[in-house]
Amino acid sequence: MQEKINGLLEELAKAFADVKTMQELNDLKVQYQGKKGIITELSAGIKDVPNEEKKEYGMHVNTLRVAFNDAYDKNKTRLEEELVNKKLKEETIDISLPSVKNMRGSKHPFNRIIEEVEDLFVSMGYDVVDGPELEDDEHCFRLLNYTVGHPARDAQDTFYIDEEYLLRTQTSSSQSRVMQANTEKSPIRVICPGKTYRRDDDATHSHQFGQVEGLVIDKNISLADLKGTLEIFAKKLLGEETKVRFRPSYFPFTSPSCEVDVTCFKCGGKGCPLCKKTGWIELLGAGMVHPNVLKMGGYDPDEFTGFAFGTGLDRLAMFKYAIPDIRYMYGNDIRFLRQFDRKDEEYEIKY
Ligand code: DAH
Repeated sequence: MQEKINGLLEELAKAFADVKTMQELNDLKVQYQGKKGIITELSAGIKDVPNEEKKEYGMHVNTLRVAFNDAYDKNKTRLEEELVNKKLKEETIDISLPSVKNMRGSKHPFNRIIEEVEDLFVSMGYDVVDGPELEDDEHCFRLLNYTVGHPARDAQDTFYIDEEYLLRTQTSSSQSRVMQANTEKSPIRVICPGKTYRRDDDATHSHQFGQVEGLVIDKNISLADLKGTLEIFAKKLLGEETKVRFRPSYFPFTSPSCEVDVTCFKCGGKGCPLCKKTGWIELLGAGMVHPNVLKMGGYDPDEFTGFAFGTGLDRLAMFKYAIPDIRYMYGNDIRFLRQFDRKDEEYEIKY
């Protein structure tokens, strides 16, 4: 028996020395420990061994079993390691390959314009002030000299929440809030950009749009200050060659009031389809703050004067980026938004 086992141990060693794959290892397991395997049959054979030899026989079979299990475990570990190393080699990452690009968002043209306008006015010493979009009649109209039933309210129909509250029709509503909030009644120099709402829907008017209001109150503020400020505003935003024209107009909260045009940035003032052949494009409304508005805001009109102006932010963005329809600004069409992922100087605008 001893010899037989020694022979089997030798065979076993040779068999394991030749194992190169998991499949071969599994085959060996079947060959030795399967239903009809060498070790299985040797174990079963114990019943034919005389009783006094059973113990020794059992010990020999066990020696073979332990040798097999030992060799099996070692080879299994070896093969698994080889497999992992092979995989690692095959899957080395080439870091010089270009990566998969993530889609990057871009700044909405509306926000681009707000930032540009804010930067300009902050550089001139203005503060940027926010006001509520859900406004009351008092701040949106009454404190701006639109008495109840005033005909100028007709042009500003909006979304009413109830008798008193509405979605603001103009950022001029922030004027009265700024004046009220300034309890010291010291000079004011602010711009108020934000969203506004009206009952409108066509290529140049949307139910939602943006405005920036400007307000300056101090002693000895004159129309000349307003003119100088708006000239800088137009030139910085639309180009140094831009000329500015003031036309008389009417707004309840300013007197005198004016509308301000700029030379068409497409044709330079010669006349083209964009400016409807006039050479001019309407940019904003402005004027000297009405004494009633100053009074209602707590400022003495004999001591203080001021100017105000208000312009559409979407309108500015449409001019600047040649956007043909205001509704693109609110459509969330990713093809539209993707066009605004560059710096301003990288645009070549074609009308
Ligand atoms: N809020 C006015 C509008 O929506 C624009 C405006 C005109 C603002 C004259 C002003 C101003 O501050 O003085 O039509």
